[in-house]
Amino acid sequence: MTKLLAELSLAFAFAGVATAAAAADIVGNPANAPAKIEMCIGCHGIPGYKATFPEVFPVPKIGGQSAKYIEAALKAYQKGDRKHPSMKGIAVSLSDQDIADIAAYYAKQK
Ligand code: HEC
Repeated sequence: MTKLLAELSLAFAFAGVATAAAAADIVGNPANAPAKIEMCIGCHGIPGYKATFPEVFPVPKIGGQSAKYIEAALKAYQKGDRKHPSMKGIAVSLSDQDIADIAAYYAKQK
């Protein structure tokens, strides 16, 4: 719990720096997300999926996390600050608008 909180505040701090410029003009629209998250679903579960993913390798649940956290995580994969190879490959294919839409969408999930 404490670790999670620390990670969250780190992500917020990071998001504040990294997206201060972009955040002004880019507004995430969850309605545009479904077509963009088709490739995420195989690993991160179907929309609204709540339980821990009981699969071969652990994948974090992203539905219900804050939009800022999701955005910061995806940009960290893009820049190489986070190293996971599949997530990096995916993140570099997303535009800032894609990331904003996806973050807004997942943040609305419970
Ligand atoms: C090939 C499987 C796979 C696909 C496809 C995939 N992910 Fe991931 N994702 C992962 C794994 C595994 C991790 C954990 C990586 C790590 O340890 O850094 C992760 C981590 C994340 C995180 C960080 C979560 C956290 O709690 O820190 C976010 C956000 C995320 N993915 C979003 C997405 C989005 C959005 C898409 C679709 C555009 C997507 N992922 C597609 C496997 C996948």
